[in-house]
Amino acid sequence: MSSPDTAAPYGAAPAPASRKAMTLARLADMHARGEKIAMLTAYDATFAAVADGAGVDCLLVGDSLGMVCQGLDSTIGVSLDTMCHYTGSVARGLQRVQGAAWLIADLPFGSYQESREQALRSATALMQAGARMVKLEGGGWTVDTVRFMSERGIPVCAHLGLTPQTVYALGGYRVQGRDEASAARLSQDARALQDAGAAMLVLEMVPAPLARAVTAELSRCATIGIGAGRATSGQVLVMHDMLGIHLGRPPKFVRNFMAGSGGIEEALRAYVHAVKDGSFPDDDVHAW
Ligand code: KIV
Repeated sequence: MSSPDTAAPYGAAPAPASRKAMTLARLADMHARGEKIAMLTAYDATFAAVADGAGVDCLLVGDSLGMVCQGLDSTIGVSLDTMCHYTGSVARGLQRVQGAAWLIADLPFGSYQESREQALRSATALMQAGARMVKLEGGGWTVDTVRFMSERGIPVCAHLGLTPQTVYALGGYRVQGRDEASAARLSQDARALQDAGAAMLVLEMVPAPLARAVTAELSRCATIGIGAGRATSGQVLVMHDMLGIHLGRPPKFVRNFMAGSGGIEEALRAYVHAVKDGSFPDDDVHAW
């Protein structure tokens, strides 16, 4: 039992010694061996610590915090200062429990589109706030920016398919890459992003067969699906969605892991387990 002077207040227990800190090399190894990567969003210290204790491999401080925490109707109003604020909270939560999870933070809308130098400055701010990797949305023009940041030692996660920061240009939150031309463009972007140094790629709302094909084509870049079927290297969900709490209607691909569970940590463990054994998501996720 811990002595009173070493006991963490508010129940923040250190992570089990057996869980080694996640690294880029370990993520690459999981991808190569086919061990599924379980990722969730986190926006505060306590949930970050609990998710880490539940075995989540990667935590994403997503700009979805605009909707989830700030009550905005899209991610477009989220600023870099806000992202640094929440990233710092999550990073400190992980530090408090000597957490193992790999921490990724979103570059928000307007913080990287202007130039690759602007992207590098914004990424630096997020890394200094505690992120280990930054995520940015889009293909094509982002390739040069990804290369610029990767060459300067910033691990980068790309994001293709439904890219919420460009929801107005895309015409809504809908499945991307349904037709042959857009599927081919997405595959080409994925290869170019990998060649530019992206170590991870989120595929959001793309048909499962396309996500499977892209994953099979990429050897050095793990794919993380959300509404993209089960063949990706891992899965991500917005934590609040999988705990069954949302302001609006959750997307159809979300599963409520709180249903039938004894509490939040158990629900998070059930999510990790379901991602690892491939029972989440269902493969008919595109019946929506
Ligand atoms: O902002 C976010 O939470 C995300 C994930 C849903 C992939 O980008």
